[in-house]
Amino acid sequence: MKHAIETKFVAAIDTSTDMLACTVARIDGVDGAIDVLASGDHLCRRHANVELIDTLDATLVRAGIAREQLDAYVVGRGPGSFTGVRIGISTAKGLAYGANAHLYGTSTLDASAWTAWLAGVRGLLGVAADAMRGEVYPALYRLDDAGVCRLFDRERVVKAAVAVEEWAGRADAAELQLTGDGLVRYGDRFEEAGLTSCIDRSLWWPSGEGLLRAWRVGAANAGDVAGYGDPALVLPIYTRLSDAEENERKRLGLQQSARSEISGVAEELAGRHLQFRPMGPADAEAVERLERACFEGAAHTPWSAEQFLSELVEPAVPRSWWVAHDDGELVGFAGGMVVERDIEILDVAVAPEHRRAGIARKLLSHVSYDAQMLGCETASLEVEDGNTAARALYEALGFAQAGRRPNYYGRGADAVIMKAELPLVLPVDAASPEPTAAVVRAWPLVEPERTDEETAELARRRLVLAIESSCDETAAAIIDVEGNMLANQVSTQIDFHARFGGVVPEIASRKHVEAIVGVIDAALEEAGHALGLSGGTVAPAELAAIGVTQGPGLVGALVVGVAFAKGMAYAANVPIIAVNHLEGHLFANLLAQPDLKPPFIFTLVSGGHTMLVHVRDWGDYQVLGETLDDAVGEAFDKVAKALGLGYPGGPIISRLAETGDPKAIEFPRALNRKGDYRFSLSGLKTAVVNYIEQETAAGRTIHVPDLAASFEAAVFDVQYKKAWAALRETGAREYCIGGGVAANPHLRKMMMKKLGRQGVRVTLPPQGACTDNAAMIAEVARRKFERGEFASLNIDADPNMTL
Ligand code: KG4
Ligand code: ZN
Repeated sequence: MKHAIETKFVAAIDTSTDMLACTVARIDGVDGAIDVLASGDHLCRRHANVELIDTLDATLVRAGIAREQLDAYVVGRGPGSFTGVRIGISTAKGLAYGANAHLYGTSTLDASAWTAWLAGVRGLLGVAADAMRGEVYPALYRLDDAGVCRLFDRERVVKAAVAVEEWAGRADAAELQLTGDGLVRYGDRFEEAGLTSCIDRSLWWPSGEGLLRAWRVGAANAGDVAGYGDPALVLPIYTRLSDAEENERKRLGLQQSARSEISGVAEELAGRHLQFRPMGPADAEAVERLERACFEGAAHTPWSAEQFLSELVEPAVPRSWWVAHDDGELVGFAGGMVVERDIEILDVAVAPEHRRAGIARKLLSHVSYDAQMLGCETASLEVEDGNTAARALYEALGFAQAGRRPNYYGRGADAVIMKAELPLVLPVDAASPEPTAAVVRAWPLVEPERTDEETAELARRRLVLAIESSCDETAAAIIDVEGNMLANQVSTQIDFHARFGGVVPEIASRKHVEAIVGVIDAALEEAGHALGLSGGTVAPAELAAIGVTQGPGLVGALVVGVAFAKGMAYAANVPIIAVNHLEGHLFANLLAQPDLKPPFIFTLVSGGHTMLVHVRDWGDYQVLGETLDDAVGEAFDKVAKALGLGYPGGPIISRLAETGDPKAIEFPRALNRKGDYRFSLSGLKTAVVNYIEQETAAGRTIHVPDLAASFEAAVFDVQYKKAWAALRETGAREYCIGGGVAANPHLRKMMMKKLGRQGVRVTLPPQGACTDNAAMIAEVARRKFERGEFASLNIDADPNMTL
């Protein structure tokens, strides 16, 4: 086992800028002196994911040490290029995780300042790092012989012109020396404002040694506490929200549109599962009712509808209010306002018959997530002293008593003030699988003890770990070489995208970076249980290979999985396997029907793809036709959005369709000619949207179940006809389906019945393996493993991969 105090060999990496910084050093166990052994720092534009592992490997060779000797990794947490920061952090997490070594994160801006210091620069230094889109990350430091001292509190982003103005206006502007890659683009502007003293251009990017220096200072301040160094805890430095969240921020208080979602169909929303969404003005009345029901008899005076409305419409300070609803009925709400860097929780209420379902906890997780987005570091609330149930809930979330207001709720009824650090402690349990905050644990993990039989069994099983991060689920599965699925973990981010009515790529990548270690942890632990290992969880080095989704998907999401997998594979010294996500959806069928054999016809219907494929052999795919515009899943999502039903649309629409009449509304079937295997969904989507607008304008209530059933019928009719035509044309007697939409019970039943009647054997993936998961990726990886089809450690994510 390795301990922080004994840290000897360290590798520092940073890909936040065009500099691929990679330095290996020895840290003196007594005085902490840094002795650089080798450095592979070099400029490399947009190629960090390709070059990072090779560079590290070459640097270790020059340093004369083996990867197993590294005790710790240090990574630059940015700020910098979003993708660059993610590649560095994900790779570093994989490296540290695979080696069971420490991971420390440090500011890339500090690293730049230390890079200058190491070159002998002294005095006042301004780092202007490029933040793209006309912005920079400005950071001021004072450098003297003792070292580098920060003159600011936290990293931020500003327009380049603002940084120029701020610095040029300083009384000590004449002393200011400049550095940072922002000078490449904006150097002229600083110069025009009289800031002419730039340090040597070769020093404008952070070096690996600079990173190490910055980390040593930070580590000394943090005291190297136990648990520090857990790769699960290292996250990018965020200075800016994604655009979608920027808009959310407006919603959260700076500007609120009073227009709420078109609905007017409340009773017809029956069948909608428990959902969470931001509170809107239309909720005020229902919220007031629930408030009154909840606080009946309590000393607390219930709020009125007007009070809630004033919270939502043009509030003076940022707010966050969320509601939970089920079957069209409001069952809970919570909210608070931002005061300095604290979110004051003003109200939490859950309908009595819905308590103990984790709703309050979920509501608070949404409110506190918003609060973090608004820059809050703590949450606080007041609770009646006698309300032990509420106090217990808050304590479980990490709140602790911080004060008391005597007789606040009336004579003898004190208010207890409670406070918690953000993020809140949100444990995962089956009933409430919400995204969790990282919990500090002992790191590195204790190396498992194995009996000889267990070691032999692990070797015989040859475990393949598969990682999936192409869209909005972070997933990991473990399969053995015979095809036994030993672990299958999925962490979905749906709640974080739901408010936007679709997946926001920037949020997806951020969430993958947060979740990946926890998800893989859970998978290794599950496999340990499945195998009955007495020494506990499976260790990375006990794996036979690591498979990862390489594409297609969202590039920013894919890079997280790919970079992590490469780092982990390298550190654990196991081979890596690149998997095509679409092939994963196809192979999900093997989880249900292991003897499925080509040739057969395969329909892929997911959120991003719609295709009809003639599978002539494994790996020999003839794509007969694809969609010309929207994918089927996308059409479901867009229709649900138009109805104000939330995201993702597929499950909601299919539930509603259950009680609807598929013949009620005649929607168009596109490209319905014989021999045409192409699809087009956008016309149908437009027809549905037009229908909604037309009925609403005419003052008629929309019968949502009929609409849902008719929409489904239009989509599935075409799917059936084309699949049947392809079966006839190719002579194939087998059919299977895959992708998120394949979870739809009506589509499944229809294909089973209609094609079955024609004598075709129909295979359907297990319901849970239709939407994105890693089990299907594991199935592909296992077969590639058997064939020895490994990838190199310089693969990159490939967002446009095809079948
Ligand atoms: O395969 P998937 O999880 O992600 C991609 O690779 O795209 O598919 C997600 C899509 C979403 O558009 C979702 O609305 C749809 O699958 N979906 C459904 C159902 N469940 C999920 N569509 C129709 N009926 C369902 N029950
Ligand atoms: Zn998918």
